[in-house]
Amino acid sequence: MINIGLIGLGTVGSGVVEILNKRKDELKSILGSELFIKRILVKNINKKRDISLGKSLITLEFDEILKDSDISIIIEATGDLEESYNYIKKSLKAGKNVVTANKAVVSKYFEELTNMANKNNCAFLYEASVGGGIPILKPLKEVVATNEITQIQGILNGTCNYILTRMFDEKLAYEEALKIAQELGYAELDPTADIEGYDTLRKLRILGTIALKGKISEEDILVRGIKGIIPFDIEQIKNLGCTVKLIAEVKSTGDKFTAMVQPTIIKKNSYFANVNMAFNSVAFIGNNVGELKFYGSGAGKFPTANAVISDVLDIVKSSYRKGNPLGTRKLKNINEKIEEPYYLRVSSEYKKKFTILYDMADEILSTTDNIAIITKEVSIQNILSLISSLGIDDDKYFLGRIVK
Ligand SMILES: NC(=O)c1ccc[n+]([C@@H]2O[C@H](COP(=O)([O-])OP(=O)(O)OC[C@H]3O[C@@H](n4cnc5c(N)ncnc54)[C@H](OP(=O)(O)O)[C@@H]3O)[C@@H](O)[C@H]2O)c1
Repeated sequence: MINIGLIGLGTVGSGVVEILNKRKDELKSILGSELFIKRILVKNINKKRDISLGKSLITLEFDEILKDSDISIIIEATGDLEESYNYIKKSLKAGKNVVTANKAVVSKYFEELTNMANKNNCAFLYEASVGGGIPILKPLKEVVATNEITQIQGILNGTCNYILTRMFDEKLAYEEALKIAQELGYAELDPTADIEGYDTLRKLRILGTIALKGKISEEDILVRGIKGIIPFDIEQIKNLGCTVKLIAEVKSTGDKFTAMVQPTIIKKNSYFANVNMAFNSVAFIGNNVGELKFYGSGAGKFPTANAVISDVLDIVKSSYRKGNPLGTRKLKNINEKIEEPYYLRVSSEYKKKFTILYDMADEILSTTDNIAIITKEVSIQNILSLISSLGIDDDKYFLGRIVK
């Protein structure tokens, strides 16, 4: 019997319990022994839960998991940042294998926790933290062994992709699409991390660091979310034969790299334009393997729990990549060197001030209701500082990077 300690019994944790229960016999026949959840740590012991479990399974004491020498694998499925860091650190120090779904903790403490696992000869796996149910990190870790990765791109946030799809297909207003996303459980009650791009940024930090074999920190990534987009923008973007997606991208040439998360305007027939609703996708280019694309459910109870369990199986079968999968390359961020065309819309109340912005226009799309232009190739810093010097409020403009 392989004993597991589970931390967190919310969406992901309860999905793990349900799949392990339902697939008990199949898993036993593949692994030769049963996967058994011996203890579950939660925050609120009196909470009503949809899942039926023996009362004695649930605890509020982490030590009951940590100090149990029968437990060799710990699954961390809380949304907590600092507490989960403590749980993971103590578990690895005690020589226990750890699987987590928590992108925030992986992103913030990636190198430290990876080194700790390495030092203590145990596994630290986090497949579910990027792309939910899509198996992306394991193949990426394998591909980097034989390839130089020059580009990695993704749609990594289901909430943003859902909102943009509904706005594009059904002309919904941003607030309406967000409300539906919340009702359907795609978006959190506080959707800030999703719509401002920080959830995507954390995932790109993890992907980029593995892909480029060197540290890409959260601070290295230029981030702009989808907040502020209005149906007028969608109409203009449609007229260009394009759609808009929140795209995460890392590109490298030698030891130099760029990293960004931005609303990106892409041709309607391009690959990412057809990744819709709450789906996610990641594509990367390796010098030997060429382009690889991965597509699937980026979140949700069972897809995410499935990714967690696949990490557990890799630990039991010892089939995960051993050693430190993070490289030590010294990389130089050259984000400031990027110059690209942008779609810029500013609300009509700034009409007088906008004359200055016409100087950077390559094409003028609208001068009536809202003012919209396509800029020449410019750096994002230049546009943002001009917008700020004109005193244009954050919710009165929208800026989308144009990829031709
Ligand atoms: N949901 C998804 O589709 C999805 C997809 C990919 C990754 N993830 C990641 O997976 C993790 C879990 O997400 P979720 O949606 O399952 O969250 P959730 O539904 O909010 O569940 C969180 C669980 O963690 C427990 N918990 C919270 N803080 C704790 C602490 N300090 N100590 C012990 N237990 C604690 C809660 O206990 P109580 O039940 O007692 O409140 C709850 O059972 C997050 O990091 C999330 O980013 C989620």
